[in-house]
Amino acid sequence: MKILITGATGLIGTELVALLLQNGVTVHYLTTSKKKIESKPNYHGFYWNPNQGIIDENALMGVDSIIHLAGATISKRWTPKYKQEIIESRILSSNVLYKALKEHPHSVKQLISASAIGIYPDSLTKIYTEENNEVDESFLGKVVMKWEESVNKFKSLNIKVAKIRTGLVLTNNGGALPEMEKPIKMGIGSPFGSGKQIQSWIHIHDLVELYLFAVEHELEGAYNAVASNPVTNKKLTQEIAAVLKKPLFMPNIPKFLMSLVLGEMHTILFASQNVSNKKIESKGFKFKYNQVDKALMNLLD
Ligand SMILES: NC(=O)c1ccc[n+]([C@@H]2O[C@H](COP(=O)([O-])OP(=O)(O)OC[C@H]3O[C@@H](n4cnc5c(N)ncnc54)[C@H](OP(=O)(O)O)[C@@H]3O)[C@@H](O)[C@H]2O)c1
Repeated sequence: MKILITGATGLIGTELVALLLQNGVTVHYLTTSKKKIESKPNYHGFYWNPNQGIIDENALMGVDSIIHLAGATISKRWTPKYKQEIIESRILSSNVLYKALKEHPHSVKQLISASAIGIYPDSLTKIYTEENNEVDESFLGKVVMKWEESVNKFKSLNIKVAKIRTGLVLTNNGGALPEMEKPIKMGIGSPFGSGKQIQSWIHIHDLVELYLFAVEHELEGAYNAVASNPVTNKKLTQEIAAVLKKPLFMPNIPKFLMSLVLGEMHTILFASQNVSNKKIESKGFKFKYNQVDKALMNLLD
């Protein structure tokens, strides 16, 4: 089997590539950075520049499935210009892929795109399944909606489309967890705001296995990628402190302060989404990490 990955060099992509190679899959990847292009047995990089509509079409040769992870990070100050980049990096990259598939003969049967639980409206009480059609009114809610729209159109090419609505990815190689660890290790960690906001998380091991499962089972439609037991921000902070054997005694960090420090991006820390994974479980996917303490012990201990 041959899979083309966009965003293969990022946090999730790196782990996913390792898993696919272990499973005997040949990986092609598209990168915006010429210096990241490598060619090893079963692992071949190709250049693209979605902003300029450039793509090396050789990347598509013999490909069965595409996994679309590319997108500018959301963990950077949201200036008006950067907000544009967050949206365009996702939409233009989908568009370039779509055009290449439309205009060239290919063997692609499925497109699996990253998506995010940020599509669901902020709520302390609701439990979200994939059937929920409301979209959060925040900037991120709109980004995810447009991102999903940009991949839905691949269906018109007779390609199966799956969207992996990903929660907070726990890994020790980057992303949110090392950032949460830092103040706790210094003894100045504490929850954000009321600490009651619900964080639906997933261990990186389970997330990359879920992508492989989506390929093997030719899944279509939206799937939430979160463990079975979302936790409050307070509980997550406490569990990280417990695994690191550090005390927590500082007062909670007020929202206005984080808004001064991070600007609009602070909303990510205070948003609450209690998300269900029943749909992917009903397809037969088994999570290895469903309890946050076990996930953190695996990553931090
Ligand atoms: N990590 C999480 O907690 C999380 C949660 C929900 C959803 N997601 C989504 O899952 C996807 C992968 O996440 P990640 O954490 O692995 O992201 P990441 O580490 O930031 O990597 C994303 C990759 O996208 C490519 N990229 C960056 N800017 C780009 C641009 N302007 N145009 C085209 N490509 C660009 C880069 O690859 P090259 O340099 O090789 O081009 C980069 O390695 C993202 O779309 C993210 O929004 C992540």
